[in-house]
Amino acid sequence: MPPAPAMAIVLAAGKGTRMKSELPKVLVPVAGRPMVRYVIDALRAAGVERVVVVVGYRADLVRTELAGLPGIEFADQTEQLGTGHAVMMCREQLASHDGPVVIVAGDSPMLQADSVATLLAEARARRTACLLGTVRRDDPTGYGRIVRSAAGDFTGIVEEKDATPEQRAITEINVSTYVFDAKELLAALDQLRADNSQREYYITDCPAILLAAGKQVAALNVLKPREALSINSPEELAQVEKVMSGV
Ligand code: UD1
Ligand code: CA
Repeated sequence: MPPAPAMAIVLAAGKGTRMKSELPKVLVPVAGRPMVRYVIDALRAAGVERVVVVVGYRADLVRTELAGLPGIEFADQTEQLGTGHAVMMCREQLASHDGPVVIVAGDSPMLQADSVATLLAEARARRTACLLGTVRRDDPTGYGRIVRSAAGDFTGIVEEKDATPEQRAITEINVSTYVFDAKELLAALDQLRADNSQREYYITDCPAILLAAGKQVAALNVLKPREALSINSPEELAQVEKVMSGV
């Protein structure tokens, strides 16, 4: 039997305050194309046909930009209460899907199709409820940190704003690239709470919720360092354009 097809959720509702742009962040051009287009292309090239884009800030503009693409659906997040809350807005699509769900951020245009394909293949082979791709960075500032046990097993993600000084020293980071099983993800979302420093619902709490429920969860250090480059500021935009042009 062929494997169950994968769907994807692209987180694209944020305003991107630090970009100082009139456009919603995911439409800001990178080397001439809206950054979210690169993300959608990578998903497509990895064989994902159904792509749900979570829209919020200037949703009209994002919808208009992407409406012509095949297989694109939208979910509305009218208030940006966090990345976990954004995924909650896709409950209907998740309920109608039996199989893996790739979740990625719309502000990470360096995501590569082969990395998505690797994560999907590993998730299928390992039958994980959640599998996430990680990267090591000399300077992990700004990213969620990957916490592991002494034995090296993944135990959770801690956001920088919630991390202890010891956790901040961790150099393995979360790149917001996950493969969840749809049913397990729905169950985890029901348990998600906004009990953190930003009072937000974090998708990053879902892996630990599933672990606590006795499910299979793993974090694989298989992404390429450049895939961690998300765009949150004009400086990061310039950096990504430089990497893309191969300079
Ligand atoms: C997130 C991760 C962090 C990871 C980092 C880089 C969480 C809590 N943290 O942090 O671990 O290291 O990405 O990959 O997930 N968005 C929505 N709705 C919301 C909030 C965000 O759609 O309510 C979208 C944004 O438009 C953006 C993406 O989600 O495309 C990521 O949001 P952002 O605020 O940039 O997350 P980070 O703080 O970078
Ligand atoms: Ca980001």
